[in-house]
Amino acid sequence: MKKLRIGVLHGPNLGLLGQREPEVYGRATLGDIDGALTSLADELGVDLTIFQSNHEGALIDHLEGEAAAMDGFVVNAGALTHTSIALRDALVGISRPFVEVHLSNTSAREPFRHTSFLSEVAAGVVYGFGPDSYLLGLRGLVTLLHRSANQDGA
Ligand code: DQA
Repeated sequence: MKKLRIGVLHGPNLGLLGQREPEVYGRATLGDIDGALTSLADELGVDLTIFQSNHEGALIDHLEGEAAAMDGFVVNAGALTHTSIALRDALVGISRPFVEVHLSNTSAREPFRHTSFLSEVAAGVVYGFGPDSYLLGLRGLVTLLHRSANQDGA
């Protein structure tokens, strides 16, 4: 069976993890999270491409550029989750399943974080588990992709 290729997208300010509001986001750095994702990807037998940007357009360019080579994405769009119709349109436009993840429980925070432009078009959403949200999201996405591959082959 072909190795699945998964893209991980980290949006604005996630490069500050470890020092940014540790009472909300914890002490793990983005490097720690990427390391844990890479180990899990090895365990699951999938290839990962990880990308972080503070810029909406760079995230969209990356999605459009990489989509053809990817089977799905794990996306923490940071604050763009609550504002970006352009990112949502890109995620719909590339026709790849994605899981939306957040470290924090956005529903338990300020009202402006309760709206996500992405959830409606995501295959699934995981939030509130700190760095484990990413790992749960990757597991969920890989399970989903294997299931649809099996259905296609059936
Ligand atoms: C976040 C939640 C967003 O509301 C916030 O803007 C972030 C991080 C999270 O992972 O909890 O930058 O996506």
